Amino acid sequence: MLILGRRDVKAVLDGADGAVLRTVRDTYVAHARGETSVPHSVFLRFPDDDRNRIIGLPAYVGGARPVAAMKWIASFPGNIGHGLERASAAILLNRVDDGRPVALVEGSVISARRTAASAAVAAEELTVGAPDDVRTGVTLIGCGVINAEVLRFLRAKLPAVADVALFDLDAGRARAFADRIRRPDLRVEVHERIDTALAAHRIVSLATTAGTPHLTTAACRPGTVVLHLSLRDLAPESILVATNVVDDADHVCRAATSCELAEQRSGGRDFIAAELGAVLARRATVPYDPHAVTVFSPFGLGILDAAVAAHVLDTAASRGLGTHLPDFLTD
Ligand SMILES: NC(=O)c1ccc[n+]([C@@H]2O[C@H](COP(=O)([O-])OP(=O)(O)OC[C@H]3O[C@@H](n4cnc5c(N)ncnc54)[C@H](O)[C@@H]3O)[C@@H](O)[C@H]2O)c1
Repeated sequence: MLILGRRDVKAVLDGADGAVLRTVRDTYVAHARGETSVPHSVFLRFPDDDRNRIIGLPAYVGGARPVAAMKWIASFPGNIGHGLERASAAILLNRVDDGRPVALVEGSVISARRTAASAAVAAEELTVGAPDDVRTGVTLIGCGVINAEVLRFLRAKLPAVADVALFDLDAGRARAFADRIRRPDLRVEVHERIDTALAAHRIVSLATTAGTPHLTTAACRPGTVVLHLSLRDLAPESILVATNVVDDADHVCRAATSCELAEQRSGGRDFIAAELGAVLARRATVPYDPHAVTVFSPFGLGILDAAVAAHVLDTAASRGLGTHLPDFLTD
């Protein structure tokens, strides 16, 4: 058993955003080709507590580097008030020939980066054919860990992004975020109102901790691509009038997401235009529509964590990183 802590994971992934982007893209394509197995996530909740949760995401990815894994990720939004990150996670990896567990890997860095990479891959794909100025700015709603990663991955994919609009319910967090990301090649504006932030740019990333819809896309300009990473912000009416792309329809129409509310409201899933993997594999097309709002809702598939964790494991092992427990499975 190899144990890889956060420092080991960062030693592999810092400066390796390109590898994460490629892994995420390839994994979506593998999913579209039926080379994956992704049972539904399990949500552990606590009595009289609708805020905190721990989610288990089992996953198998086939292909050249097959991997089976389980991500076990806790979300405690109140942590940020105590100087801790909201999310903490561990990923357990198993070999696929004999099933034996081989590595325990710190999971929150992998989780945040695969999420941001999926947003960046979607933003690039869904703005193909858009006017150039669509790819020059981004609005970030929710100024936490995920949107910080989104900004970096987005700029790796769309290097013309030079304007950033920020909004957070907690204005202090928006200002602190602005201070952290400010650099000479980036113009950053903190908005006091969410509607002016939504109208500022035609790429919008939602990464809040809202549990129920609080937002419509009425303030978005036509041609806006919304990366709905936090899944529960948008009113179902906004989902139903948008062009919707998801990572997996069966997964995303669960757990009180805006997509599940839209399914309940409309009685079906006809509002979903395509899954991202199918678009990337050229099995479906979702042309950029300058007159409509496009919403990407990724449930966040465990296959992304499994594939990125396998990359981390292989690279760390080749560099001699981590702590070995050779007798983990024997006495
Ligand atoms: N879809 C996926 O694959 C995926 C993966 C990881 C995380 N997420 C989701 O991303 C979200 C953000 O995660 P994080 O780690 O950045 O959290 P975080 O706690 O670090 O940051 C969230 C921020 O959102 C702000 N916020 C809360 N409600 C808001 C509202 N109504 N309007 C504006 N701002 C609001 C908070 O003040 C906070 O600054 C979470 O909901 C998480 O579940 C999704």
